[in-house]
Amino acid sequence: MIDPQDPHDPRRPVVRPRRLRTTPAMRRMVAQHRLDAADLILPAFVREGIAEPVPIGTMPGVVQHTRDSLRRAAAEAAGAGVSGIMLFGVPEEAKKDAVGTPGTDPDGILQRALRDVRSEVGDALVVMADTCLDEVTDHGHCGVLDAHGRVDNDATLARYAEMAVVQAEAGAHVLGPSGMMDGQIAVIRAALDAAGHRDVALLAYTAKYASAFYGPFREAVNSSLTGDRKTYQQDPPNAREALRELELDLAEGADMVMVKPGLPYLDILRQIADVSPVPVAAYQISGEYAMVEAAAERGWLDRERAIEETLMAFRRAGAEMVLTYWATEFALRLRAGRG
Ligand code: PBG
Repeated sequence: MIDPQDPHDPRRPVVRPRRLRTTPAMRRMVAQHRLDAADLILPAFVREGIAEPVPIGTMPGVVQHTRDSLRRAAAEAAGAGVSGIMLFGVPEEAKKDAVGTPGTDPDGILQRALRDVRSEVGDALVVMADTCLDEVTDHGHCGVLDAHGRVDNDATLARYAEMAVVQAEAGAHVLGPSGMMDGQIAVIRAALDAAGHRDVALLAYTAKYASAFYGPFREAVNSSLTGDRKTYQQDPPNAREALRELELDLAEGADMVMVKPGLPYLDILRQIADVSPVPVAAYQISGEYAMVEAAAERGWLDRERAIEETLMAFRRAGAEMVLTYWATEFALRLRAGRG
């Protein structure tokens, strides 16, 4: 008999964690986290004035939708069990101006697309709108500029407030203010409430870092930006600051919070998920998508396994929701039992 009191008894059996890894059924049974289509949100681009979807070269498999193809993509996402869709509008170039007029025009492309998608899917998908000016300004910044060419925080808030009401009126269930202006959640909440849109929820881009991984998105929205967003988006060395942004967003009325980009900021996601009293999302952004697609195209990665592993990383790090350009594809894969 071994001595049960003696951890150093040389006859004690080796502890074998590998026993729980022996078969697929065993691994499945003991998996701590699972992926579900309901965790996924599809970001989608809709462009004004095109007759056919336009492929985005830096994001193979992703397109700028026509209004019709967007409707179909939304219906397909809903059918696959995806939870939500986050819409980005790309106006005709000539309509962009310094204050982003297409963003507050009830007939702007994003507002039209919101109405289209709501009429197509109703409440079957949570329909979300990007509440930001960069897609609609001729300078490509997320806000309006002051006399020195700097992004003017408070003048921008006034534009966001208008934009939010127009998006809510077009049928958005959720707004995603992504411009990282200070006070944006409070101002947008107040504007929505004053206009009677008390049930429209806010998904705050709480911790949004100034990242090189947004690169392909610039093509996706035909961005006019020269320069960078370092005076308003967070600086990559700063982790603690994300918790400060969380506190502010919660105090201002955020219903959900987001961390963005995803993979390079899993530490931030973990910290926020540990303390957030509201649901937490991660945005797997354009550059993250492009990296996997490019490597897979060269045969350097197993595409399907890499996609699944990245999505699992977000769940493991504490996100309830993941915005990913693979949302529909992955949801279909889960349905087919290959997830
Ligand atoms: C700003 C916005 C950006 C993204 C989502 N909202 C671009 C930026 O901040 O530069 C990036 C999404 C992606 O890269 O997939 N409206």
